[in-house]
Formats: sequence, C-alpha cells, structure tokens
Amino acid sequence: MPKLDIHWLYEASVQNVDTDLDFAARVFSRHWKRKPATLREDFCGTAKLACRWVQRNKKNEAWGIDFHQPTLDWGKKYNAAELSEEQLQRLHLICGDVLEVQTPKVDLALALNFSFCVFKQRETLRRYFQTVGKSLNPEGLFVLDIYGGTESVMAKSDDVRLIPGFTTPDGLEIPDFEYTWEQAAYNPINHHTTCHIHFDVPGFGKIDKAFTYRWRLWTLPELQEILLEAGFSRAEVYLHDFDDEGESDEIFRRRKTYENVQGWVAYVVGIK
Ligand SMILES: C[S@@+](CC[C@H](N)C(=O)[O-])C[C@H]1O[C@@H](n2cnc3c(N)ncnc32)[C@H](O)[C@@H]1O
Repeated sequence: MPKLDIHWLYEASVQNVDTDLDFAARVFSRHWKRKPATLREDFCGTAKLACRWVQRNKKNEAWGIDFHQPTLDWGKKYNAAELSEEQLQRLHLICGDVLEVQTPKVDLALALNFSFCVFKQRETLRRYFQTVGKSLNPEGLFVLDIYGGTESVMAKSDDVRLIPGFTTPDGLEIPDFEYTWEQAAYNPINHHTTCHIHFDVPGFGKIDKAFTYRWRLWTLPELQEILLEAGFSRAEVYLHDFDDEGESDEIFRRRKTYENVQGWVAYVVGIK
C-alpha cells in the first residue's frame, strides 16, 4: 500500500487559513480602522497560514515560528513552493521556541489549532502571552482559538468527519477520507487531556494516532484573565452559531453569553 504524507491529510482536515485570516483582518480593521499588513504565526508547523498571508496582498509580510525543523522543512518544500520569488522575500520562517523568539513588531499574531495548550502552567502561558504582546505594534491584535462544550470534558469522545479528496502538487490523488478526533483522556482535576488524530483513507489504509496532543484544556474565562494579566488592554470572545445539520456556520460574532452546547470552537482575541 502506498505511504501517505500525514501533513497533507492534517492540512485538509483541520486548517481553514482563509477563514482564520478573514476573521483576524476583519476584527483588526474594526479596532484600528486600517488593514493589517504584518503577521506572526506561532506554532506555525507547515506555515500554511503565513504563506497564504504573503500571497493575499503585496504589502503583507509574515513570520512563522515553530521549533520542529522537519515540519518547517515540509512547509518550505510544499507551501512556500507555491509562492513567487517576490512573495518569498516577505516570508520568514524561524526555527525556535515561541516563548523565546522575538520578531519585528507586527499587526497580527495568531496561535491556532489550540497549540498554546501545550503550556500547562498558568505562569508559562502568561509568559507566552507577554512574549506575543512585546512583538505586537501599539495597534496590534492577538488571535487564539480554543474548543469546549459538554463533550470536551467527557472521559472519552470521538468526532468523525468525511473530508473531501484532493490531488497533491506531486500528482497523488487522495480520495475522500475519514478524519477522527479522539479525546482519549481527560482529567477534571487539572484539565489535562490527551487527544489523537486518526485517518482512514480508502486505498491507503488506516493511520492510527497520526498526531497525538497532550494538552491542558484552558477555559474561556482563564484565557481572558491571563491575556489581561499579560498586559493586553482587552480580551474578547467570538463564537459561531450552527447550521441546519448542527455544524458550525463558521460565522464568528462577539459574544458575552452562549448556550452550553455539546461542542464549539471560539476565537479569543487580545487587544494590545
Ligand atoms: C497543532 S500543530 C499546529 C500547526 C498549525 N499551526 C495549525 O494551526 O494547525 C502544533 C505545532 O506547534 C509546534 N510547537 C509546540 N510547542 C512549541 C513551542 N514551544 N515553540 C514553537 N513551536 C512549538 C509543534 O512543533 C507543532 O508543529
């Protein structure tokens, strides 16, 4: 059976970089009455979002940070390869720890797909938020995402979705495939959780535990409080509604109250 590159499956299953960038740019423009141009993508992995940012406008510049060189190299080989010479001049990929790396000051910082949940101590998360704050312009915005809902605090749960097939730049045809998010463990005492991503691709087979995450599932009040403790002037929460099939409608509005539904994904925004 041919071996599949799990980064293709990951990007197709969990990343929607245009939705993230549209959201961040919209909230930024509402706060600061201008368009953002510079961006820092923390925990960038394959840097799909940073690459997209430099493609979207010739004034845009992006810094992507991740401490795993092989994943950055994959991003350079495939995502950055989509960029022109001129666009590549505006992309900077840095191998380093997001707790340490200082970039030039940017308009937008993003830490997505819950990656900051690797920080399990409040003090460490606050230090990380302070590092991001220092790399933001006085007119700056920090966008995080987090999931929650009644299912997220269950001992075990599975979320299975069918992902549309696609063809990789190498010409490999990947058919529609199954993506599973498994919450394998959750400890209510410290909110530590273990989650796995599995794939099942017809013709290629099952890839169990393609990715495993050992996180602390931070809550919305904690994130808002820690942003303020780290020096952000305000913290806001944006949540989606649901379509007729009970799926997220992907339209994020600022909310102060929300029904305690089974599952949701929120953007949390820190305003410099
Ligand atoms: C869940 S992936 C996120 C990939 C992508 N940014 C996304 O939104 O889907 C988490 C990434 O964070 C990186 N990472 C974890 N801790 C880090 C740290 N302290 N500094 C830099 N990168 C880190 C890992 O190497 C991994 O590539």
